[in-house]
Amino acid sequence: MINIDIINMLYILSAILFIFGLKMLSNQKTARKGNMVSAIGMLFAIIGALVSNNVLQWQWIALGIIAGSIVGAVASRIVAMTAMPEMVALFNGFGGAASLLVGWVEYQKYYSEGTLNQATIFSLLIIIITILIGGITFTGSIIAWGKLSGKIPSKPIKYTGQQIVNFSLLVLLIIGTLLFAPFRDLQIIGSYPLLGIIIVLSCILGITFVIPIGGGDMPVVISLLNSFSGMAASAAGFVISNNVLVVAGALVGSSGIILTTIMCKAMNRKLSNVLFSGFGSGTSSKKNAGFKGEANPISIEDAYLILEAASNVLIVPGYGMAVAQAQHAVQELAAQLEANGAEVNFAIHPVAGRMPGHMNVLLAEANVPYEKLKEMDDVNPTIENVDVVIVIGANDVVNPAARTDKDSPIYGMPVINVDKARTVIVMKRSLNPGFAGIDNPLFFNENTRMLFGDAKKSTQGLVAEFKG
Ligand code: TAP
Repeated sequence: MINIDIINMLYILSAILFIFGLKMLSNQKTARKGNMVSAIGMLFAIIGALVSNNVLQWQWIALGIIAGSIVGAVASRIVAMTAMPEMVALFNGFGGAASLLVGWVEYQKYYSEGTLNQATIFSLLIIIITILIGGITFTGSIIAWGKLSGKIPSKPIKYTGQQIVNFSLLVLLIIGTLLFAPFRDLQIIGSYPLLGIIIVLSCILGITFVIPIGGGDMPVVISLLNSFSGMAASAAGFVISNNVLVVAGALVGSSGIILTTIMCKAMNRKLSNVLFSGFGSGTSSKKNAGFKGEANPISIEDAYLILEAASNVLIVPGYGMAVAQAQHAVQELAAQLEANGAEVNFAIHPVAGRMPGHMNVLLAEANVPYEKLKEMDDVNPTIENVDVVIVIGANDVVNPAARTDKDSPIYGMPVINVDKARTVIVMKRSLNPGFAGIDNPLFFNENTRMLFGDAKKSTQGLVAEFKG
């Protein structure tokens, strides 16, 4: 048996590595190293857990490690960049389910040993909190995964009295949690029936909590569920007295909350509004209502002529660039523009794409220098001086209705004010709306030209013109 101090040292070391890893993730230049540092931290945590005297059956541990490694390795290869948010949702769900099971197993231990009466109130309370948060996280994340992957409709599902139902479920769960420890004194059955009720109700609450949320609010919910999974893991750490699980869970829980807050700020929405307003139901979408004029299409050849004359170009990527996998072609276009004497920058909206940092990751993959990536707040004040903005597969994040149309569901959300630039070239395949399901008056502005088609093909066409 290894000395407990050595195990705790390993845990402290891994907690330190987690914290440094997280810090490094906040900067693109150090993000890859940060990932590696955190992974090494996880390795120490696993070694610490394995050499502690809690392992009873090595064959199950080995089986878990092999199965988990295979699934992780295969998923990292086959899951497309565009499907990452769904994968994160699934991870959160499994994290929640794991915490629920850890809590349940710990309860079962007391139950089968007949020692429920000797368990402290704190132990039972923490067990039931682990199960409760784990249950909500599990089913909530599975619904979020279904919505993001299109397995179930992504629109909010609403019915009369929905909030009363959710609130009642929450109140019942709180009452059940408070009664859980006193109920252990019941003869024979202990608190098992109550445990069952709490598991079922928390799983139902996970579903009813997420189904009314949809559209552009999904990333916020994923991040919130990520935070829940961290809290559940932290509580599970208390249940099995594992210090590093407490710390790692707390780190995930708090970083998830911070990310949730940042995203709400980027969309100019309150969390309560995100959770209860049912944004994205489609009922508020006004098909081109009030938009004057017609969209002006442009050919690749004419777009080239405009770009060739520009001395200052801003590229605004969005989800369509990810779908088209156009990042390498975009990098090539930027190089051609620069070779032609233009200054080229990229403007990144905090919720462009389908996950935080989506555009940054893609552009980094194409070796676009970090310093060329500008934040929305840095480009907006001087965007009037930009000769040409090229919008590549972005829609919601450049929708001026967020600024000008008080009736728009995204009114108040900060957007990149591309409409204020001298000329805007929008690359997309049609006039269809983006993720939020609302129309975009930008496409009908006098200074906007629509370059219809797949973003990669259009970009490659422009590169060919420059080379040609
Ligand atoms: P969107 O508003 O979703 O617009 C993407 C546009 O790309 C679509 O209008 C689509 O138009 C076009 N497109 C799709 N495939 C294309 C292709 N192959 N070539 C060219 N264009 C293509 O994207 P956005 O502006 O990046 O905004 C992101 C939205 O997603 C926001 O509403 C945000 O709240 C939400 N969201 C964000 C996140 C995070 S954290 N980033 C996560 C989930 C959801 P066509 O069909 O006409 O081509």
